[in-house]
This record gives sequence, C-alpha cells and structure tokens, in this order.
Amino acid sequence: MAKLKIGVVGGGGIAQAAHINNYKKHGDKVELVAIADVNKGVLQRNIEEHGFAYAFEDYNEMFADVELDAVSICTPNKFHAPATLAALKAGCNVLCEKPPAMTAAEAEAMEEAANASGKILAYGFNNRYKARAQYLKRMIEDGELGRIYAGRISAMRRNGIPGGVFVNQELQGGGPLIDIGVHMLDLALWYMEFPKPVSVLGSTHRELGIKPLESVPTPWDYRNYTVEDLAMGMIKFDNGATLLLETSFIVHTLENTNNTVRLHGTKGGCDFKTGGVFQSRYGTIVDIAAPKLPDPDSHQLQLEAFIDAVAGNGRMLSTPRQGVIVQQIIEGLYRSAETGEAVKL
Ligand SMILES: NC(=O)c1ccc[n+]([C@@H]2O[C@H](COP(=O)([O-])OP(=O)(O)OC[C@H]3O[C@@H](n4cnc5c(N)ncnc54)[C@H](O)[C@@H]3O)[C@@H](O)[C@H]2O)c1
Repeated sequence: MAKLKIGVVGGGGIAQAAHINNYKKHGDKVELVAIADVNKGVLQRNIEEHGFAYAFEDYNEMFADVELDAVSICTPNKFHAPATLAALKAGCNVLCEKPPAMTAAEAEAMEEAANASGKILAYGFNNRYKARAQYLKRMIEDGELGRIYAGRISAMRRNGIPGGVFVNQELQGGGPLIDIGVHMLDLALWYMEFPKPVSVLGSTHRELGIKPLESVPTPWDYRNYTVEDLAMGMIKFDNGATLLLETSFIVHTLENTNNTVRLHGTKGGCDFKTGGVFQSRYGTIVDIAAPKLPDPDSHQLQLEAFIDAVAGNGRMLSTPRQGVIVQQIIEGLYRSAETGEAVKL
C-alpha cells in the first residue's frame, strides 16, 4: 500500500514532541510531505530536521498545492477551526490538537464539515490513550461504578504558567480551563458516556499571573497576562449528574500538580490519578488498587491510532460530536464567569 502523505499545520512544541516524532517512527506507513507555519524560522528548522518536501507560510496554500491524506493541526487554539475546515475541504483526514476550538459554534462547524467530507476528524485528547484511563474505562463499562451521578475534575498547578501563547486570551481563548482543564473534562465526559450538559455555573480569577511574585520565578510575561489563572465550575447534566471542576495555572496550594477525575457512582467510585476504585462489598468498604500498569506514551498511541484509522484499520476514540459538547461546557463556564449567572446550554 502507498504511504500516507502527511501534512502538519503549526510546527512548534507539540508538533515536534507528539506528532512529527511519532510519524517518523512509522516511515513504512507514512511520509512527512508538507508543513505550514507562519514563522519562517520554524519552517526552516522543520525542513532541515525532518525533510519536509514542501513548506508554506499559509496553510491555505499548502492545501491548494499539495495532495495530502492526513494532517495534524498544532497551531494556537484560534486557528484550530479555520485550519481544520480548510483541511477537510481539501479532503484530508484531521487530527486537531485540543481544545477542539475557541467556541461551540466553531466546533459545530468542524463537525458539520467532517460529516460532509466523510473524513476523520479527531481531537488530541491523548489522556484517553493512557493505560490507566483505558483500565478505568473497562471497569466502568463493566458496571463496576454503577450509575455515575457525581464527580470532581481537577487540573491544578501550583506554579505552572506555561508562557508563550498560553497566556494570550486572543490566541488561546482562555487559560487553564481551555488548556489543561479540557483534558480532565474530556476524560470525565468519556467515562460518563457524554451525557447532555444542561447548565453550568463558573467563575474565573486572575490574581497571580498578572504580577511578579516574590518567591516564584515568573518566566511568563506578567505584563501581558490576559487569561484566567484559576477557574472553578459546576456542570449539571440531563441525567441528573453533577460535576465540579477546578483548574489552575498558578494558585497557592499544597501540591505542585493535581490532575485527576474522581467519579462517584451507585456501585463504586474511581480516581484517575491513582487508578483506584472504591466500593462497598460483602458488608465492608473495599478499595481496588490499580495494578502496576505499564504506561506507554499516550501521544504515540493516539498518533498510531490515527495512522491506522486513516488507513482504514480501526477508529479514533474521540468524535467531532464529543468535541462540540466539550466546547459547549467550556464556553458556558466562561460566559457564566463573565455574567455571574448560571448559563443554560
Ligand atoms: N495534547 C497535549 O497534551 C498538548 C500539549 C501542548 C500543546 N497542545 C496544543 O497544541 C497547540 C499548539 O501548542 P504548542 O505548545 O505546540 O504551541 P507553540 O507555540 O509551541 O507552537 C505553535 C506553532 O504554531 C505556529 N502558528 C501560529 N499561528 C499559525 C497559523 N495561523 N498557521 C500556521 N502556524 C501557525 C507558530 O508559529 C508555532 O510554531 C495548542 O492548541 C495546544 O493547546 C496540546
């Protein structure tokens, strides 16, 4: 079979660390053909290091000039939707980094375009490919938690402002909620089989990112810090379930990081961070400890699933519709934070 022709839009950090390097491990199946990036230096580096035959400053030109089977979209969030729409229009299968988009309307347009084209549109929700995530998913599908009616999502960093575009509201659409909270939100929804969200109540805070802190190095540009540094929220679903959410780039707290999803069901609960499952059985309280699971790179597993899916072998774990639901919740939480009112979805 002919090798799949691969394009990349945005050749920065995640493109290098999770896409290009992993495509290169499968030179028997894929060929890195074209790259688009607004930064000439980035293009030059990618040509030299990875041998792309074609390089463009404008992704529209790339899709017009080069026939590609699949593309990774690795730009700042603002360009996820327009680049994905251009790719689908050109007949490419798309793996778009998370978050799906800036708004729910954009995610809906991406879903419609994917349906119209019949091509794959998957999102970079790589956490689903972690061994721990898969193990808990199997437990949940086997009914070990019963009906999940509540949970808590945490994506907390004590001192983890990423800098770069990640502090820029205009390019990213927000801070920790849309950047790291989105990963754990997606995981919780996936475990719950994406119930329909009906309302959200959110609040955001920008307290620490906007100033130099005595005891904390500030590698980000605090004078141009325009995103929230802490977001809190509550999400209610049409099946009666409730999720609480907390996510921060920087906050005075105990742990350096705390990334987890805790779910509470009628038969058991679980904690993604430890893989623990909590039940009551035989008249006592029982913890099922996670076995020592191997933990291969989830980005690599996701990319391999994408290559296989494009070649017609298997499916991606995420769907365009799920991207819409994630984006509805994020947009609703931000809107609620702005207005101070709960938002119906
Ligand atoms: N799945 C994950 O765990 C994960 C981790 C990190 C980043 N990401 C996501 O990946 C995306 C990129 O993040 P990053 O860390 O690589 O950022 P980055 O700033 O390192 O790289 C982004 C690249 O996109 C280029 N770019 C900007 N505008 C463009 C445009 N209009 N067309 C083409 N190229 C353009 C920039 O020049 C840069 O080279 C973000 O959406 C982020 O949320 C996901």
